[in-house]
Amino acid sequence: MPHALIIGASRGIGAEFVRQYRAEGWQVTATARGDEALATLRAQGATAIALDVASAESTSRLARQLDGAAFDVIVHVAGVLQRQSGLAPPTDADFDHTMHANVLAPMRVLPQLADMLAPGAKLALISSKMGSMGARASTSSWLYRASKAAANSVLKDLSLEWAGRATCVSFHPGWVRTDMGGSNADITAQESVAGMRRVIAGLTPQDNGRFLNYDGSEIPW
Ligand SMILES: NC(=O)c1ccc[n+]([C@@H]2O[C@H](COP(=O)([O-])OP(=O)(O)OC[C@H]3O[C@@H](n4cnc5c(N)ncnc54)[C@H](OP(=O)(O)O)[C@@H]3O)[C@@H](O)[C@H]2O)c1
Repeated sequence: MPHALIIGASRGIGAEFVRQYRAEGWQVTATARGDEALATLRAQGATAIALDVASAESTSRLARQLDGAAFDVIVHVAGVLQRQSGLAPPTDADFDHTMHANVLAPMRVLPQLADMLAPGAKLALISSKMGSMGARASTSSWLYRASKAAANSVLKDLSLEWAGRATCVSFHPGWVRTDMGGSNADITAQESVAGMRRVIAGLTPQDNGRFLNYDGSEIPW
């Protein structure tokens, strides 16, 4: 039975990854930081791991908690968005909050998984088209944009480091109706995740280091 690890699965896109992989009979390990979310994950048949991705103390325990596992698919989903318009300088607190959750977290979490890659493993980091510099046409929420551009850099380095052992991609999940995306967004979490799962299933080593839309089309870095 293939094994998926979903980082940040309490709600939204992460919770939908758990639901869909479990529905297909996969073994799923999933992380969340709240007791209620952890209980919900367990009730779905997932192995639930407490993890606050923005906490050095919490992330330092992860490798021990996952000891011996071999993952076919790893999806790092957890992220935050603080909306801003224009070029208002962020406060130290806002900068740290966004950068810790969106950049420092994958830099701390993902390298710990290097010895937990099943043969042919695939790693997906849920980034955002808002982090693309090639497709940039707006400055809204520039702190979030900067954080996702930096997250893309993290993914690119992982793709170089893990080449030959895993296929690593960055995803734009679409504009998705979640707490973050809001009710006017284009697509449901079900559609977004079904698309990304299809793309993940079809990834080959030649796709290593690409930035992809949820439908598989290429997004410029
Ligand atoms: N929705 C969209 O339209 C859209 C578009 C582009 C990219 N994205 C990206 O897709 C990912 C998921 O977004 P979403 O729409 O599902 O957002 P969401 O509904 O707001 O969910 C965010 C998820 O991240 C988790 N999280 C945040 N900070 C965390 C921390 N410090 N430790 C552990 N978990 C943490 C949340 O857990 P808690 O419940 O504990 O807070 C929650 O599970 C994010 O990386 C986001 O940037 C979303």
